[in-house]
Amino acid sequence: MSVLELRGVSKRFGGIVVADDIMLDLQAGQILGLIGPNGAGKTSLFNLISGIFPTDTGEILVAGVRIGAMRVHQRARMGIARTWQNMRLFQTMTVLENMVVAPRDYAGESLLRLCLRPGTVRQADAEACDRALGILERMQLAHLADSSVTDLPFGQQKLVGLARALMNDGPCLLLDEPMAGVEGQSYETMRAVVREEAARGRAVCVVEHNISFIRDLCTSAVFMANGRILERGGIADLLASKTLAELYFGA
Ligand SMILES: Nc1ncnc2c1ncn2[C@@H]1O[C@H](COP(=O)(O)OP(=O)(O)OP(=O)(O)O)[C@@H](O)[C@H]1O
Ligand SMILES: [Mg+2]
Repeated sequence: MSVLELRGVSKRFGGIVVADDIMLDLQAGQILGLIGPNGAGKTSLFNLISGIFPTDTGEILVAGVRIGAMRVHQRARMGIARTWQNMRLFQTMTVLENMVVAPRDYAGESLLRLCLRPGTVRQADAEACDRALGILERMQLAHLADSSVTDLPFGQQKLVGLARALMNDGPCLLLDEPMAGVEGQSYETMRAVVREEAARGRAVCVVEHNISFIRDLCTSAVFMANGRILERGGIADLLASKTLAELYFGA
């Protein structure tokens, strides 16, 4: 069964069509590339999947369950984890604090539970800390756990964005331009961790303008422009397509 399935998803804002009858299918262990020019609708597609805005028509399914009527936090609980193009880290908080607010089902969210069963919440907090530190270790960031995110170089902040998304251990991971502005060791770490996540069975979709990253990580990709998927398939064929040459590479 598909981890994530989009059936005829459409969305428009006034005259702008951001998604036009999108069909998409993501399998466990797959890393799908999503490429297209600025304004193509790539981030909008992630927003539709994660529930930031509702679809006009079409269906979105996670492990066969329709999630179209669910709100953002419910979809996160279904296992849709994502990063943000503009990171959206909590700037006044430490790396670890940014992460412990992001587990898939955070016990302290419930005021009732917090009042009636504070021990349960404390236990969940301790588990979230352990989990966060484990993820940071994998990303060679454990020594920065108590640093303020604003003190980190840009590449490491992007890694923290991914680390926070990984606090949601669900089956579907959406990455919005994880490599933009990332180089050197952070680039290597990002690539290795994304590969590992897929190898552990997650379904990953990566939006990226960095084509060598897409070529490195993905066996298949889709090409979007004007809210529509115009091409899809194996990465080599896709990158060689005339449509991409005309609409993306500017040939
Ligand atoms: N909430 C919104 N209201 C109105 N228009 C929007 C909204 N969100 C996105 N758009 C418009 O939808 C189009 C697609 O934007 P989107 O951010 O999805 O593009 P993108 O493919 O992610 O581009 P980029 O590569 O630059 O990140 C743009 O024309 C954008 O201005
Ligand atoms: Mg975008």
